Amino acid sequence: MREQAIESPNLLIQADNLTALRWLIEEKGLAGQIDLVYIDPPFATGGRFTVDGTRAATISSSRSGRLAYEDSLIGEDYLAFLRARLLLLRPLLSERGSIYVHIDDKIGHYVKVLMDEVFGIENFRNDITRIKCNPKNFRRKGYGNIKDMILFYTKGDDFIWHEPYEPYSEADLARLFPKRDAQGRRYTTVPLHAPGETKRGQTAQPFKGQRPPKGRHWCTDIATLERWDREGLIEWSSRGVPRKKIYADERRGKRMQDIWEFKDPQYPVYPTEKNADLLDLIVRTSSDEESYVLDCFCGSGTTLVAAQKRGRTWIGIDSSALAIEVAQRKLKALPRTLFSSEVTFELYRI
Ligand SMILES: C[S@@+](CC[C@H](N)C(=O)[O-])C[C@H]1O[C@@H](n2cnc3c(N)ncnc32)[C@H](O)[C@@H]1O
Repeated sequence: MREQAIESPNLLIQADNLTALRWLIEEKGLAGQIDLVYIDPPFATGGRFTVDGTRAATISSSRSGRLAYEDSLIGEDYLAFLRARLLLLRPLLSERGSIYVHIDDKIGHYVKVLMDEVFGIENFRNDITRIKCNPKNFRRKGYGNIKDMILFYTKGDDFIWHEPYEPYSEADLARLFPKRDAQGRRYTTVPLHAPGETKRGQTAQPFKGQRPPKGRHWCTDIATLERWDREGLIEWSSRGVPRKKIYADERRGKRMQDIWEFKDPQYPVYPTEKNADLLDLIVRTSSDEESYVLDCFCGSGTTLVAAQKRGRTWIGIDSSALAIEVAQRKLKALPRTLFSSEVTFELYRI
């Protein structure tokens, strides 16, 4: 049932997601339209998650505070619950679509098997380790747990991918760009030639009287080499060997690897609220501006906020009344930016 008169492609739905996902397919005709799904379902902890005042608590035994949600299904029942939702998410994904499933290390390996079954092991892209907190003094025997996992699958091989980069650390800079120029800018040098001999053409011509070494060719034409030299972008060794300077401050950073450090908010407004930058990374990497982004365990709406900020169309589903309230508050508090003017969405309770 629609709750407000506003017309918007963004949808916020309070419902059991099994019903809501069927509704998106059957009533809204969204099969094959969703480019990105991120879900952060309950982790089969047997816990009860409440909110006391403005702070979110994750106290499994607590009877106090307002209930956000109960994570009561465990073992086989939990896996059957999740499988039923994954089987509806797959047809919703577009041919260029991706799905990220955020899960912990206790149930995550069983969920990986489910994901292989539903999305195909050939579509498995990454098991991302997410560092979620600082090391603590655990009392139980065993190693401290500071990570959870995000399973990343795609519908097929031709998926949306905007290569993400992360800034170099000081150690990376020292290792990868060990030299400094007169202005103190960090750089390294690389050869000006590449494998493969050509007898004719620009890349085989002499540069400053030198031909490329045997079996190699210049990496660009002579005019460009001359320009680089005039601009001070070529370093000449004491033996007269030219190399191209590569400046650290002109690189986009290093390619993201599969260990991510994104700690969750210290004072969450909703239990198990996820890190906003983590969701921003996923949204900007695996969706386009015109994409639909779906989170059917949306909680406080972290994914929806990230999608809104990046100008994507979003759909959030959660069965908890408190989650829907908090998500609305977070969305409405967003400042106006280039992409997000007034946040509009249709609110449904099914
Ligand atoms: C781990 S929390 C998600 C937190 C969220 N990622 C955030 O950043 O705030 C899991 C959410 O799934 C919701 N949920 C659990 N079972 C559901 C169901 N069958 N249908 C819809 N939502 C459900 C819970 O109400 C809870 O808000």
